[in-house]
Amino acid sequence: MFKLIDGKAHSAALRAQIKERACAFKAANGNDVGLAVVLVGNDPASQVYVRNKIKGCEEAGIKSFAYYLPGDAAQEEVEELVCSLTENGDIHGILVQLPLPKHLDADKILKLIPKGKDVDGFCEENIGNLCLNRDCLVACTPNGVMQMLKREGIEIKGKRAVVIGRSNIVGKPMAMLLLNADATVTVCHSKTQNLAKICAEADVLVAAIGKAKFVTADMVKDGAVVIDVGMNRDADGKLCGDVDFESVKGKCSYITPVPGGVGPMTITMLLYNTVTAAERSVRI
Ligand code: GUN
Repeated sequence: MFKLIDGKAHSAALRAQIKERACAFKAANGNDVGLAVVLVGNDPASQVYVRNKIKGCEEAGIKSFAYYLPGDAAQEEVEELVCSLTENGDIHGILVQLPLPKHLDADKILKLIPKGKDVDGFCEENIGNLCLNRDCLVACTPNGVMQMLKREGIEIKGKRAVVIGRSNIVGKPMAMLLLNADATVTVCHSKTQNLAKICAEADVLVAAIGKAKFVTADMVKDGAVVIDVGMNRDADGKLCGDVDFESVKGKCSYITPVPGGVGPMTITMLLYNTVTAAERSVRI
């Protein structure tokens, strides 16, 4: 029998703790914890993500500052906005929603965010500190996965972990977090040979490739923990993950559903990072 890892339940429990910390911050410092969210253009998926992030802030007692720029905004305009946010003492976290329109230099814009306000955990210093296993703001989706594993009481130490996908946002930080937790980690990607065989050796298998139902039962070891970071549409237009849930569920010990697994944890960890950034800003 497998156990479904309920991301919504874990999120709710964590968000209650985050709200308490946001209230305590306000009581101690007189001002709210603040998150700035910048959206450039009108990509429908990004609009939904941003709306959910703002709603999450409201529910957690975090003040959100939303900035909507037109899709043809100039590089200088976006840079000026981000620079003003870095200097604003009411704002403890800055999130620039990705992807940015193609004419913009995203790297140059993200580089303007100081590490203490980088609640996405994307900047070089935060990534570097993660690799060095030092305290830092960690990318939200992989950190959400680690929180779920911890809260489920799943032992990572000494286990074989396989991450499918090597993106800077998910795959790479995920691998580092698992390594920092003493797993033996393999990262697979589009050029990996014998991918199915490598996956079938995993005690913990994390799929983050963006291909609908890519992971099938033959790629899963009996009793493995399967974490599905994917968010795709299947041939019928139905929301599905990177894992073929129906075939894999009979083989694994734990599995995250899509929707309702990793997804809710991503915004929760953004709120978590924002409160953490605020607390650290007054401690320095
Ligand atoms: N677009 C998709 N996921 C993310 C994320 O985690 N952070 C930002 N800033 N943009 C995204």
